[in-house]
Amino acid sequence: MTTGGSVGEDWPVASTDPTPTTPQPGEVVRIDAGGWGWTWAADTRGRLHQVGLGLDGAGAPVEVDPIWYPDAHPTWGGPDPFRPPALRITHAEGTTTTRLRLDGVERQPLGDDELVTVRTVDEVFALRVAFRTRTHRDSGVLEQWVEIDHDEDGPVTLWDYDSIAPALLIGPDARMTQFGGAGWADEWAWTTERLTPGTKVLDSLGGIQPHLQRSPMLLVEPNGPVDEASGDVIGCSIAWGGNTRFALDVRPRANDEARDLRLRAGANPLGAHYVLDPGTIFVTPTVAWTWSTGRGELSDRFHRWTRARVLRDPDRTRPIVVNNWESTFFAFDEQRIVGLIDRSASLGADLFLLDDGWFGTSSPRDDDTAGLGDWEPDRRKLPGGLPTLVDAAADRGIRFGIWVEPEMVNPDSDLFRAHPDWVVRDRREPREHRNQLALDPLIDEVRDFEVGVVDRVLGAAAGTSYIKWDANRPVTDPGSSALPADRQSNAWVDWVHATWEVMQRVADGHPDIELMLCASGGGRTDHGTLRWFHEFWTSDNTDPVTRVRMQWACGHWFPASAMAAHVTAWGGRPLPFACAVALSGRFGFDLDLDALDDESLAICRQAVTTARRTQDLVQHGRLVRLVSPVDGPDRSRAALGFVAPGRERAVVFCYQLDDPVSPPPVLRITGLDPAADYRVQTTDLQGAPDDLGILSGADLAGGALPWRPDRRTSASILELTTPG
Ligand code: DGJ
Repeated sequence: MTTGGSVGEDWPVASTDPTPTTPQPGEVVRIDAGGWGWTWAADTRGRLHQVGLGLDGAGAPVEVDPIWYPDAHPTWGGPDPFRPPALRITHAEGTTTTRLRLDGVERQPLGDDELVTVRTVDEVFALRVAFRTRTHRDSGVLEQWVEIDHDEDGPVTLWDYDSIAPALLIGPDARMTQFGGAGWADEWAWTTERLTPGTKVLDSLGGIQPHLQRSPMLLVEPNGPVDEASGDVIGCSIAWGGNTRFALDVRPRANDEARDLRLRAGANPLGAHYVLDPGTIFVTPTVAWTWSTGRGELSDRFHRWTRARVLRDPDRTRPIVVNNWESTFFAFDEQRIVGLIDRSASLGADLFLLDDGWFGTSSPRDDDTAGLGDWEPDRRKLPGGLPTLVDAAADRGIRFGIWVEPEMVNPDSDLFRAHPDWVVRDRREPREHRNQLALDPLIDEVRDFEVGVVDRVLGAAAGTSYIKWDANRPVTDPGSSALPADRQSNAWVDWVHATWEVMQRVADGHPDIELMLCASGGGRTDHGTLRWFHEFWTSDNTDPVTRVRMQWACGHWFPASAMAAHVTAWGGRPLPFACAVALSGRFGFDLDLDALDDESLAICRQAVTTARRTQDLVQHGRLVRLVSPVDGPDRSRAALGFVAPGRERAVVFCYQLDDPVSPPPVLRITGLDPAADYRVQTTDLQGAPDDLGILSGADLAGGALPWRPDRRTSASILELTTPG
């Protein structure tokens, strides 16, 4: 039995193979992760040490007795009493220390890759810890996690259970970048700071939508500032749909500028100590990480790995979506929606997405106070039910999608009246958040109900081909009636596995339905949860000025095909600028199309036409970042491009976000074929494109094109094609 494990197809599942292997004295374990790697070696007592890490890490020579190298994975009570541990366990009989010795190494070939398991056992207790890595050498991203099990005389308690804990020697200018802001509508805020002595903890809380506060990703520049093409940069992503934690323990070295960094990453154990029974395997979240030269390579790697391992149907070009949320909120009827469907079709969109507010009978969903949980169409608003809308879309040649929030319930609902005991709660009265409560997925009937919500909605709206899955509140009363009193803190981990089980059942049950992941915006943008989805709603903040910076940050980890970006009225920015920003993500609209004048409609039409020409590049091409809106003294501009795999075409987006504070930058378009000639056309989505002539890839990389957007909140889109 396992605690759930990672349930994605061919993602880590706890190994139950007890094959005994015999470690050799001084055993050396080398992980070649594809362009970088690490080496561990056992000392004479079998304790593991990290001998090497980095670009040459897999080949690091063992130059002295391994005992002189840092611990491979520090435990409480291990050799270094001055540092926080990555693993802290109270054993069944009360001992609080853990000391591990090597018990065996297994290498399982997977084509050109490997699944490597380094098995250890406590020196005294019948407790085993397996360190597991799965290479992806074509992308250079390494998946790493830890498994713990035991045969002690009762349960043990896991207090800290990080997935990785590498040791690094860092320079005085070492930096890190975190991605988190004020919460809702402020996701992906970019903060870079120097690493200084002490422990810095970057965590997320909230359980259901923790990544609203902080995305589970981190950049570390161990030797000081890097740029797109040069400098050592480590990228880590915690593939976990719950609370996460990065901890950076920095310790100075006496009389030396260099410092020691221990980087720990994994699930956030705050309030979530795990009581583990004998015979059960606890699997930590997978951390995906890489060591790159420059941020550009880092993104290339994460994009390749995300496409290969995470995103569903990565090669399928995503539709152009029109969503009604910001134009109607809860106030609509059939006529209004059919009108919007009509407008969407005439604009050239692919899909109309009906958002919140379509359901609820005895407790109609006229606002966020009622109806959640009652997934029957509200016949007052939609007398023909959902089929009328699906048919209206089909009659106009577009697809239909629908919003659900299967994990939630309003107290004012038939569902809650029938099952008040189904909600997440402890012994107190549960607190409402957005007037709703969360259903407890550890209750078997709840998981069946949640899967059934999607089945029922799709059954009632045959022909629907897209679902937006939302989750609009955090956990505030952590407790579960499905767990005994002494296991309440296990809920934080178990909830993630239970929710992933529901998502997997939905994805498996409806393989042809495209799924968008949303949690009050980007509250669930992690590589673990995304495995059952095609894309995510990047943020509710669609002000294009903010969005450029958010998409810039998010684009370090995810390809643009995953980042839904809709044109809205947020921020009151010029429409061509708003369209140009959305065009660099998975393009769509959340505008009141009925209210647009002819001029605005013409701009939207031109944006759709541009999307048709460029979306294969944006979604499947190689991202090149050219002018940064988050680094340096002048953050008033941004430019990024997408280059076709064969480099025969590219599209470049240039944004002037604010009043400039310095002269225009030199636009150096990287990633092109220097020997090829490119015809360059530019558009600001207001009239025919301008032909800028033919320039070589070398000239374009050298800065031959001037910066064009000439005023704040304006954009220029450059399309580059090799003639013939
Ligand atoms: C939060 C989402 O982020 C919005 O796009 C919208 O779907 C609302 N929920 C609906 O309640």
